Amino acid sequence: SRQLVKDKLDRPMRDLRISVIDRCNFRCTYCMPADIFGPDFAFLPKSELLSYEEIERVAKVFVSLGVEKIRLTGGEPLMRKDLPILVEKLSVIEGLSDIALTTNGVMLPKLAAPLKAAGLKRVNISLDTLNDELFGQINGRGVKTGPVLTGIRAAKEAGLGVKINMVVKKGLNDQEILPMAEFCKNEGLELRFIEYMDVGSTNGWKMDDVITKKEIYEMLKENYELEHTGAAYFGEVAKRYRYKGTDVHVGFISSVSESFCSSCTRSRLSANGQIFTCLFNGNGHDLRDFMRTGVSDEELREKVARIWNNRGDRYSDERTAETIANRKKIEMSYIGG
Ligand code: GTP
Ligand code: 5AD
Ligand code: SF4
Ligand code: SF4
Repeated sequence: SRQLVKDKLDRPMRDLRISVIDRCNFRCTYCMPADIFGPDFAFLPKSELLSYEEIERVAKVFVSLGVEKIRLTGGEPLMRKDLPILVEKLSVIEGLSDIALTTNGVMLPKLAAPLKAAGLKRVNISLDTLNDELFGQINGRGVKTGPVLTGIRAAKEAGLGVKINMVVKKGLNDQEILPMAEFCKNEGLELRFIEYMDVGSTNGWKMDDVITKKEIYEMLKENYELEHTGAAYFGEVAKRYRYKGTDVHVGFISSVSESFCSSCTRSRLSANGQIFTCLFNGNGHDLRDFMRTGVSDEELREKVARIWNNRGDRYSDERTAETIANRKKIEMSYIGG
């Protein structure tokens, strides 16, 4: 039976973002800068991670409370061993309508087909530029665009839905906005421009680094005719448009300039089993140790319901210089966006 929970602002819980690992094979400057996430950085040891059985158990509890959509994230989720096994476990949970994954794409040539076979519906692949040199600089590992483009192709060929995520940072990749738009339009790929956010405390974010949705939209408008289209599902973070005369969409994730907290239905589970009620709220609620004491599903369910009932987060609505300075924040690579 389903018991739909609401938070203090009357928002239901519809999505669960599960981070399966905090490691990544990239060191994107805006997410895991190499000088901080160096060879000595203490990532979570395997014993601290939720097992697939534990993730499955938690996911069922969340679904019983209203979750319809699960997204797997990282770090880089494809670095977690045997990920298709987890997808298979999740895909048979009754009441779920969507299972997706957010990835940098380079491991998709090997994994796209097995993930699809296991029940994965779609992937969002990050790509911030088509320029090899700049891409190598952004990903901090000198990886060229080729491996990501191959990953995109593999995902399409496997029959997965594919969207492209481009984080736009002023002075870094703003000159890539139009080339990326043109490329994705020609490839029939939905591109989402993401405003660079003040997630975590290691990327040195400044308001000046942000290029807003409006600025990007104006650039696009000079080159294309765009028609506004509705959200693909309730609570979608991207605002979507269609290139006139095509069925190709382009979206904007404007967390900084036009926040969307009032319809935020997202819960987040870290790789070590903590629940976070907002991307910007660093106070996690432990489920892992609680589960490992041998509680019943009902007790687990009550705990999750209580956490959601007490949720009042609306960080992006309230973002000010003061909140930016004083918040205890979570790193992007730990919570997966
Ligand atoms: P779809 O299911 O395809 O709509 O994916 P999504 O956009 O919800 O997820 P994805 O992992 O592709 O995230 C794209 C961008 O949106 C990332 O920069 C995320 O950090 C950001 N994002 C996703 N959910 C939230 C949210 O609740 N709040 C904020 N501020 N940003 C979010
Ligand atoms: N601001 C906005 N988006 C970010 N991402 C990583 N760091 C940031 C940031 N500071 C994006 C990644 C990926 C998604 C999960 O979040 O590029 O597409
Ligand atoms: Fe890895 Fe994605 Fe973070 Fe880049 S943005 S370091 S690919 S988790
Ligand atoms: Fe949801 Fe927090 Fe993002 Fe607002 S800032 S949309 S409450 S995760």
